[in-house]
Amino acid sequence: MRRYLYDGSLEDAPVERFDVVLVGQGIAGLYTALRLDPSLKCALLAKSDPQTSSSWLAQGGIAAVMIAEDARASHIEDTLVAGAGLCDEKAVRMLIAEGPRDVQTLIDWDVPFDLDDTGNVRLTREGGHSANRILHCGGDATGRGVTQRLAEIAGGRPNLWIRDQAFLIDVIVEDGETAGVLAWDNGYRIFQAPHVVLCTGGIGQNYEYTTNPASSTGDGIAAALRAGAVVQDMEFVQFHPTALMSRDPSRRFFLISEALRGEGAVLRNVQGERFMQGSHPLAELAPRDIVTREIMREMERTGSTFAYLDSTHRSSEYLRDRFPTIHEECLRQGIDIARQWIPVRPVQHYMMGGIRTGLDAMSNVPGLYSVGETACTGVHGANRLASNSLLECLVFGRHCAQSIGSSGRRVRTGAVPAPRPPLPAGKADLPELRWLLRHRMMRNAGIVRRTQDMRDTLAFVRDMKNTLETAAVATLDHVELLDMATVSEAVLAAALDRTASVGAHFRESDPEEAAEVADLSIPPQGGTPS
Ligand code: SIN
Repeated sequence: MRRYLYDGSLEDAPVERFDVVLVGQGIAGLYTALRLDPSLKCALLAKSDPQTSSSWLAQGGIAAVMIAEDARASHIEDTLVAGAGLCDEKAVRMLIAEGPRDVQTLIDWDVPFDLDDTGNVRLTREGGHSANRILHCGGDATGRGVTQRLAEIAGGRPNLWIRDQAFLIDVIVEDGETAGVLAWDNGYRIFQAPHVVLCTGGIGQNYEYTTNPASSTGDGIAAALRAGAVVQDMEFVQFHPTALMSRDPSRRFFLISEALRGEGAVLRNVQGERFMQGSHPLAELAPRDIVTREIMREMERTGSTFAYLDSTHRSSEYLRDRFPTIHEECLRQGIDIARQWIPVRPVQHYMMGGIRTGLDAMSNVPGLYSVGETACTGVHGANRLASNSLLECLVFGRHCAQSIGSSGRRVRTGAVPAPRPPLPAGKADLPELRWLLRHRMMRNAGIVRRTQDMRDTLAFVRDMKNTLETAAVATLDHVELLDMATVSEAVLAAALDRTASVGAHFRESDPEEAAEVADLSIPPQGGTPS
């Protein structure tokens, strides 16, 4: 693997010194930054602003048992069951025991959680949860509510130096220890720091159909791999059962929150029949991987490219108030969700795997941390329980901040990568390669996986990675695509290594029996209740 991606010399690159460099301005990056000792000088970098992060788009909420402490046992149990036996139980216990404290911090910081008439937080339920324990903001705009408030507070902190057009190129390592990052911010810039926290979100753009924003290209995971970090659970890629069918799959798919099913919406096939009741005791609220595969089966059985979500049991007023974002977006696409069924299909949504970290959020490279979707703390196992992800950002962000505060590590002033001879200019057709990668990952490393298809795709990805690595880096698109190829290689290698199906990793080795990922075609407008 190519160690550093820049070509030539960094002699003229400006060098700045910080105590901590955080990369990513979603909830993980912002909350970690805000929990750091304010006497630490921190750079908070991202390739685009918080509004383009995955956090901003999160609809459902944050799962946390705020009052009855004995009910935490069932939250732990639901998390372990969803994770299909592969969670790290110690990490899960810490998440659920400590999470309410961090949610209380958000409340104290005036994050606008929805309240009931008596002033208590309103709670909802999503797939895999045996009780109502999910807090939300703005009905279905939780991510926006939390991210906006944290970004506002961060903007007023004098110790945080915020740059939202700084693209992470590499993590700098000296003598086996983290020494800073190399970023592109109107030119190469070196940010020296003894602590680097990677919070760059997920890898959704590696898949043709995803709810993730354009920024989710796995940059942090790829840079960490080049720096020698260990990754874990890369085969566990979560598909959300219900994304609104899209006329333009090159853009992200709009999520239809599981909370809608939590409030009673049901799934129907294109013939109008319900199909989840016999499949799982929780029916529409079964864990995500199960609902996803059932929808795919039903799509195949009925020869359709989508299924329907039916929320017509609720009034227009209720849906507009409780799910304003979904109500408005569906109306914009000609679907009145109080009267018409919503055409939906499963699409990529979340990465359970990532940079392996301990309870202190540190990787195997001293001084290199990761928080949020970029990290693999072990709390999600083979399948994440809905609305546990924002909770993970908070709890592990705080642990990361505490660990940095007590580390005593000092900046290494000599930390500048050595000059390297320029490579010849490459001839790769980047848009074509990017499309091919996304298309092949969707078909062959998605919901249903077959051995030969994964092997062929791995060979394709390695070839592409080699082409990109042996050419001069001419643009940030080039770096991003190389990051995507690096992460795809790790997903495919891990998926091939895990021979048994578990959680979100479902292997079908007999091509005759395999369920195809159906091609996308333009759906009709919302269906009509029969
Ligand atoms: C949703 O609202 O369905 C998504 C929540 C999550 O991904 O945890």
